[in-house]
Amino acid sequence: MKCRVCREPAIIDIRRHNANFCTEHFLRLCRDQTAKAIKEFDMLDEGDRVLVAVSGGKDSLALWDILIELGYQADGLYIGLGIGDYSDESGDFARDFARQRDLKLIEVDLLREYGYDVPHGSRAAKRAPCSACGLSKRHIFDKAALDGGYDALATGHNLDDEAAVLFGNTLRWQVDYLGRQHPVLPARSGFPKKIKPLIRLYEREMAAYCVLQNIDYILEECPMAVGNKHIAYKEALNQIELQSPGSKLDFVFGFFARAAERFASSDAAIDDVLAPCTTCGAPTPSGECAFCRLAERATAAQPVRLSPRREKTSVRSGPSTPSEPDRA
Ligand code: AMP
Ligand code: FES
Ligand code: ZN
Ligand code: ZN
Repeated sequence: MKCRVCREPAIIDIRRHNANFCTEHFLRLCRDQTAKAIKEFDMLDEGDRVLVAVSGGKDSLALWDILIELGYQADGLYIGLGIGDYSDESGDFARDFARQRDLKLIEVDLLREYGYDVPHGSRAAKRAPCSACGLSKRHIFDKAALDGGYDALATGHNLDDEAAVLFGNTLRWQVDYLGRQHPVLPARSGFPKKIKPLIRLYEREMAAYCVLQNIDYILEECPMAVGNKHIAYKEALNQIELQSPGSKLDFVFGFFARAAERFASSDAAIDDVLAPCTTCGAPTPSGECAFCRLAERATAAQPVRLSPRREKTSVRSGPSTPSEPDRA
C-alpha cells in the first residue's frame, strides 16, 4: 500500500478517493478538505475569530487543531453538561488540549450557571435527554459567540453526522429541519454565524487525525445517547458506504447542490415571526424561548431530589386513599 502522492508506505486507505496516504499527506488531506469546505460555503474570511465548540471528543478537538493550523484565531468553548463521569472526563480532555497548546478555553457549567444538569433537567422537563442537551447547548453556543464578539461558532459535525441527520429528516420529511440543514447558517439578528468545517471528512478520518497528531480525546460515547436514532442511521449508512464508497458524500453534497434550496422557504417563514424572548432576549417564535422554558421546568424540580417514598409524602397534602394516583 503506497501513498498516492509520494509513493512512500501508506498508513490509511480512503476508499471514496480510491487512494492511500502516508501520515504527512493524510494530515494535509484533512487540512485541505477543511479549507475547501470553508471556501466553498464561504464559512470564514482570513483572520476571522472563531469560537470552536469542543466536547472533548475527536471531531471537535481535531477541528480546533486544524483551524489553528490553517491560521485562524480560534478559541474553544466547553459546556459542562453534568452527565456524570462522562462530562468530567470530556472536560479534562478539552482542558488538557487547550493547556498543551496554550489556547483559550471558555467554560460554561450548566448546573452552576443555569441551575440544572442534563440528566435531572431532561427528566424534570419531560424531554428526551438529547433534546434537552441539544437545546441547552445551542442556547449557550449562541450566547457565548455573541457575547465574545466572534465571527462564527464552529462545531465538529462531520460527514457521518450530517448524513445521519439528513437521513432522519428525509425519512420523516421534516421540511423545517431540511430547510436549516446547511454547513453554514448565516448570522442573523440574535444569532451568530454557525459553521461545520468538517463537512467533507468522515468520522474514521477524524479518529485517525487525532491519533497521528497525538490528540487525546474521550473514547466513550455519551451514556445518555443509548437508543438515539442517529446511531441506527449511522449503522445503516455505513453498510451502504461499504458496498458503495462515497455514498454518504454524494447523499449530503447532492442534497446541498440539488435539493436544499427547495426547503429554504420553510425556514425563511420562521424568521418572519421571531421576537425577543421575554426572559433572556434571544429570538424566539413564542413569548418565552424554549431554552428558558426548559430551564424553568428543570430548576423548579431540581431541588426535589428526594427518595421515591419521601417524594410521595412531600407532594401530597392531606390524607390520600390507596387508589389515588401519584402526582409526583
Ligand atoms: P453532538 O451533538 O454531541 O454530536 O456534538 C456535535 C458538536 O457539538 C461537537 O462536535 C462539538 O462541536 C459540539 N459539542 C458537543 N458537546 C459539547 C460540549 N459539551 N461543549 C461544547 N461543545 C460541544
Ligand atoms: Fe444526547 Fe448526550 S444527551 S448524546
Ligand atoms: Zn505521502
Ligand atoms: Zn429565553
